[in-house]
Amino acid sequence: MLVTGIEILEKAHKEGYAVGAFNTSNLEITQAIVEAAEETRSPVIIQVSEGGLKYAGIEAISAIVRTLAEKATVPIALHLDHGTDFNTIMKCLRNGWTSVMIDASKFPLEENIQRTRKIVEIAHSMGVSVEAEIGKIGGTEDHITVDEREASMTDPEEALRFAKETGVDYLAIAIGTAHGPYKGEPKLDFERLKRIKELLNMPLVLHGASGVPEEAIKKAVSLGINKINIDTDVRQAFTARLRRLLEEDKEVYDPRKILGPCKEAMKEVIKQKMILFGSSGKA
Ligand code: G3H
Ligand code: 13P
Ligand code: ZN
Repeated sequence: MLVTGIEILEKAHKEGYAVGAFNTSNLEITQAIVEAAEETRSPVIIQVSEGGLKYAGIEAISAIVRTLAEKATVPIALHLDHGTDFNTIMKCLRNGWTSVMIDASKFPLEENIQRTRKIVEIAHSMGVSVEAEIGKIGGTEDHITVDEREASMTDPEEALRFAKETGVDYLAIAIGTAHGPYKGEPKLDFERLKRIKELLNMPLVLHGASGVPEEAIKKAVSLGINKINIDTDVRQAFTARLRRLLEEDKEVYDPRKILGPCKEAMKEVIKQKMILFGSSGKA
């Protein structure tokens, strides 16, 4: 069933586990996510980035996710990932999305608060939950010094003020992860996470979680992360299977015989994440 993001994340926050938020932009990725959730009896968040919306078209991707989610027997939220454009967020609300992220993290704190508060007011009036971001979660390609890295992380006191003044439902924080494949091993600032959870006592979100070692994920969940964003690991599972399949079978030409096995490979990765995050069996 299709539910709001806060319905899924409030339970995760109270019971101390995390729910995976997996990016989709087509039918097969969406099927892989929904089937993984059904097979592990896990709640799940299916999210689409602005790039994903541009690729698939909002009507088509909304219809695919909503149709599969409504048929499913586990709770599923349809979420806009890193919404930066006001009109795009409004379109998602009009198309029946149950969660949106307003990412105004590149602006100074005051402006991030103002922009986030405006979206919270509108989305809440329509019964839709909201994620926002404070601190800067960069890409792995960013060349930053240790001091810059420290400065980009979420300040716990600022996060408290941000949460109070915006009324946001769940908050993405910067504690050392980055989007895309890591070059070295990511170092997470667990003390910072602990302090933020103690102060805010609300659902927290970890972005850029692909490639983060399992032990670090488990620790982050134990310290209060409740939504974990995964895109790259699923993309890589798809592509690795595709390369192998085309290499092994030079005769295949039916897209279903190519994309079917790729979907299974994505599903396996997603199921492993659901077990690792502690959401399996919670639906
Ligand atoms: O946070 C970024 C997500 O992985 C989406 O990436 O903008 O390439 O769709 P994208
Ligand atoms: P990864 O691609 O690094 O898993 O990041 C996903 C993400 O944070 C989407 O918002
Ligand atoms: Zn992200």
